[in-house]
Amino acid sequence: MASFSSLFLSFFVCVLLCLFGSQATEARKINPISHLVSKELFDSIFIHKDNDACPAKGFYTYDSFIQATRCFPKFGNIGSLITRKREVAAFLAQISHETTGGWPTAPDGPYAWGLCFKEEVSPQSNYCDSTNTQWPCVPGKSYKGRGPIQLSWNYNYGPAGKALGFDGLNKPETVSNNSLIAFKTGLWFWMTVQKPKPSCHDVMVGKYVPTEADLAANRTAGYGLVTNIINGGLECGIAGDGRVNDRIGYFQRYAKLFNVDTGPNLDCENQKSF
Ligand SMILES: *[C@@H]1O[C@H](CO)[C@@H](O)[C@H](O)[C@H]1NC(C)=O
Ligand SMILES: *[C@@H]1O[C@H](CO)[C@@H](O)[C@H](O)[C@H]1NC(C)=O
Repeated sequence: MASFSSLFLSFFVCVLLCLFGSQATEARKINPISHLVSKELFDSIFIHKDNDACPAKGFYTYDSFIQATRCFPKFGNIGSLITRKREVAAFLAQISHETTGGWPTAPDGPYAWGLCFKEEVSPQSNYCDSTNTQWPCVPGKSYKGRGPIQLSWNYNYGPAGKALGFDGLNKPETVSNNSLIAFKTGLWFWMTVQKPKPSCHDVMVGKYVPTEADLAANRTAGYGLVTNIINGGLECGIAGDGRVNDRIGYFQRYAKLFNVDTGPNLDCENQKSF
């Protein structure tokens, strides 16, 4: 869990970037992410996100995605062009699995249906960890999966809201009714170190340094480790897990569209979770 001072700093940085990021971008006359992800590429990745069958129809816009990245200038902006494209492809693949409307015989295949859902259907609980006193649940509120990364649990809604400038504990619904904040929560999760886990970003750009414990658990860098960070407790260390394979299938399709290879260690079936 991040300390107060680092949370405060990330809030400050994010607010500053959101306020002044667009001017800074204008001054440089480029926006790196829209250079990596054109509207055309975005539309060819998310072919069916606005399909009538998708509950999130009309919600996840290209403009919200691009605007949200301005709060996270390191996203897709570290390393070689291949590394940068691979990171963005990995992010888009993971959020696609989290929000997928695909099925094996779906039109255009199972991996053409990312960003179809904006909130979890039939949650099993309110995702309240009542032992967490730093981010106490508000009675009656549900911290179920919402937005591109399906942000869940009070201990994620609280700090995400603090970092991004919304009231995550009192108004968790904000994540499924404001698409800019929704994309920001996905990027916040991707960029933020939550010890003992590294950030997904650090793993994809080669900044992750495994500890002894990580090495003993086979947690070596690659897309599989990102899956482990996101949901390893439920999905990793299992041979041939369908959810893990769905995440991989999305990444393989998107890596092709970005014209990059996927890198090593796609799977987490031989990894222990954190
Ligand atoms: C979005 O969520 C907020 C926070 O709960 C709520 O106040 C607002 O009415 C919601 N807006 C819509 C359009 O649902
Ligand atoms: C690490 O991976 C190897 C196979 O590559 C496997 O035999 C071993 O059990 C794994 N270790 C752990 C801790 O899961």
